[in-house]
Amino acid sequence: MLCSVATRARKGAPVHLGILGVGRIGRMHARHALGCERVTAVTLHDVDGSRVDELSGELDLPGTTDLDRLLSTVDAVLVATPTPVHGDAVRAALAAGVHVLCEKPLALDPTLITELAALTPGGVHLVVGFQRRFDPAYAAIRAAIAAGEYGTVFLVRATAFDHAPPDLGYIATSGGIFHDQFIHDLDALPWVLGERAVAVQATGSVLVDPGFADAGDVDTASVTLRFASGALGVITGGRCDGGGYDNRLEVFAQRAAVCAGLDERTPLTSLEPGVPPPREPHQGFDTRWARGYRRELEVFTDVVAGAAVNPSPALDGLHSLEIARACELSRRADRTVRIAADGTLS
Ligand SMILES: NC(=O)c1ccc[n+]([C@@H]2O[C@H](COP(=O)([O-])OP(=O)(O)OC[C@H]3O[C@@H](n4cnc5c(N)ncnc54)[C@H](O)[C@@H]3O)[C@@H](O)[C@H]2O)c1
Repeated sequence: MLCSVATRARKGAPVHLGILGVGRIGRMHARHALGCERVTAVTLHDVDGSRVDELSGELDLPGTTDLDRLLSTVDAVLVATPTPVHGDAVRAALAAGVHVLCEKPLALDPTLITELAALTPGGVHLVVGFQRRFDPAYAAIRAAIAAGEYGTVFLVRATAFDHAPPDLGYIATSGGIFHDQFIHDLDALPWVLGERAVAVQATGSVLVDPGFADAGDVDTASVTLRFASGALGVITGGRCDGGGYDNRLEVFAQRAAVCAGLDERTPLTSLEPGVPPPREPHQGFDTRWARGYRRELEVFTDVVAGAAVNPSPALDGLHSLEIARACELSRRADRTVRIAADGTLS
């Protein structure tokens, strides 16, 4: 296994980036990193040496299974390991003075999030990869709402469908549909609206694969949220959409109805006359969120260079976790769950 560092100089403050975990999404991030202006070197890391070797060969990048060695050479890491082990990698990186972009959710335990957030003294940054926060259309909607352009917002509606479910092995440690899949929109809806959710009703079914029931999970779900202003939020989604991978946001307000994620690749077929079918409908997160992932790396490296403010700090993740816990409780108890200002559920 090759452990030297390949350097490809580019203009701007240089960042040598380590990719921790080269599975489904780590492989994609490694490819995007090669096109990121400030990233001058990329080194791969995984506990599975065969995965490192395979991607190292494919992308002509160095790689190592030795985390300490990696941390002694890089400026920043992108953590794309399974969620239950994010904490170990983030703790080790921050202790070594290495900046971190961590895949979502940072952790499933709020105490751990608080602990990790406190480990960022003296200009070492911890950014959480909620890619909707980096997507230009979501950011534009948020800015317009904050500026009052749409007037009173009545309802926001998110669609959160995967095309095909991940391996059941992944599901077993994912934290369940609300903590793993819906967490994106549980973060994005309050972020876009600029206010907290105060009550939740959630329901779900197992319709895709009985393996979800074995894991104590559901594969299709629906959530209704009430926000502090009275605005409503609706998230519908699941692990399988025969049409493709469909992630969208719609906002219905006094002076506007706008959406993000609706274009010719949206996997929704209209049966109205003259409306063309989708062109190359998205099959996964890699194409649907390509702009968001690329911008995530650009903004992260800007944050590292001191040229941008962290738009997705660790403690922001606490509210989405509170809502995810409320969703799980609501689904299991079949009732409305209220979320107090301090995060207590009742
Ligand atoms: N932002 C998004 O849209 C999005 C999409 C998918 C997954 N994710 C998140 O990305 C993370 C990874 O998901 P995935 O689907 O790529 O998982 P995966 O199982 O496909 O890949 C994880 C990789 O990490 C490696 N690994 C396991 N433990 C490790 C450790 N201690 N140190 C180093 N490497 C280790 C595994 O060998 C594997 O190669 C999860 O937190 C998930 O929630 C985010």
